[in-house]
Amino acid sequence: MLNEEKLNAFVGQMLGDLGGASSIAMVRMGDELGLYKALHGGGAMTSAALAERTKVDNRYLREWLSHQAASGYLAYDPQTTTFSLPPEQAMVFAVEDSPVYMMGAFDLMVALVENQAKVQKAFRTGGGVAWGDQAGCMFCAVARFFRPGYVNSLISQWLPALDGVVGKLERGAKVADVGCGHGWSTVLMAKAFPNSQFVGFDFHEGSITDARAHAANHGVTVNARFEVARAKELPEQGFDLITCFDCLHDMGDPAGAAANVRSALKPDGTWMIVEPMAGDRLEDNLNPVGRLFYAGSTLICVPTSKSQEVGTALGAQAGESRLREIIGSAGFGSIRRATETPFNMVLEARP
Ligand SMILES: C[S@@+](CC[C@H](N)C(=O)[O-])C[C@H]1O[C@@H](n2cnc3c(N)ncnc32)[C@H](O)[C@@H]1O
Repeated sequence: MLNEEKLNAFVGQMLGDLGGASSIAMVRMGDELGLYKALHGGGAMTSAALAERTKVDNRYLREWLSHQAASGYLAYDPQTTTFSLPPEQAMVFAVEDSPVYMMGAFDLMVALVENQAKVQKAFRTGGGVAWGDQAGCMFCAVARFFRPGYVNSLISQWLPALDGVVGKLERGAKVADVGCGHGWSTVLMAKAFPNSQFVGFDFHEGSITDARAHAANHGVTVNARFEVARAKELPEQGFDLITCFDCLHDMGDPAGAAANVRSALKPDGTWMIVEPMAGDRLEDNLNPVGRLFYAGSTLICVPTSKSQEVGTALGAQAGESRLREIIGSAGFGSIRRATETPFNMVLEARP
């Protein structure tokens, strides 16, 4: 028997979901054409005034503004026919260092759609899709997606939650940031701790090139450098701190990486593992964050891992117990959850 009330509720949910999906291109145009930033800086404006200010065609802009008002992304005042970006929406669309800046997530949604054809083939074969073969904008999207979390938490909360690490960094420590991608985490740490030396490792050459450019732009080339290397074959040893930001689960052989990290650390060193927040059981993750992460995991993380040796494919929602098994397999004597945010858990492993 069809329950009409449940059907109506589900169709309502689908309208909301499709509305969100239809907003991806619209939001990204607002970003790339500078529309959100102009509204953020300029206050309430008519379509004509915003068109003049941002040098875009007013007819297109009127349609875009109407969509944004219908979405609740902009406020519309019918008396003055002006549109404005409320301060809460500005935190999401215009303020790049805000903890809830989400433009990277919109970029990532495009990368998921672009990955579909390759990953769909892999569903049949069980094979992987190499990181470097995935959607063109994905590397920048990933970096942009994670950056606000690092800007707001890494130096102020995550590193201080580790036992004795900040003192070592202030005095001068040797640090490896493994799976560093575009290197935002490395650059932030290098800026905050000028007495320490940082090296970012990633197996993706294009990302290392971008990381070097970011380090140069932020003036940290003296104490930060970037090298191409696989996590399980780090070419250097004697680190006080090794960090892995949102990448252990992407690796083909995370246990192999853990063993290599263990041997590259000093005996009193620390391994900091930042992973997506997740419970151990599927039923713990049936929520909006889990929903997004499972999509990213299916279209990015699992294919990345499966394209590498071993192909463990932990998935983005591995959960702490599974992560502890992998980390513990390398003989780390102490593993604890040092801190967490709604999106990330920060694990500390010590030899
Ligand atoms: C989701 S991205 C995170 C990048 C970066 N840590 C960040 O937070 O922005 C995962 C990164 O892991 C890297 N990666 C995956 N497998 C790797 C491996 N076996 N060795 C080294 N890097 C690896 C990828 O190239 C990619 O840069």
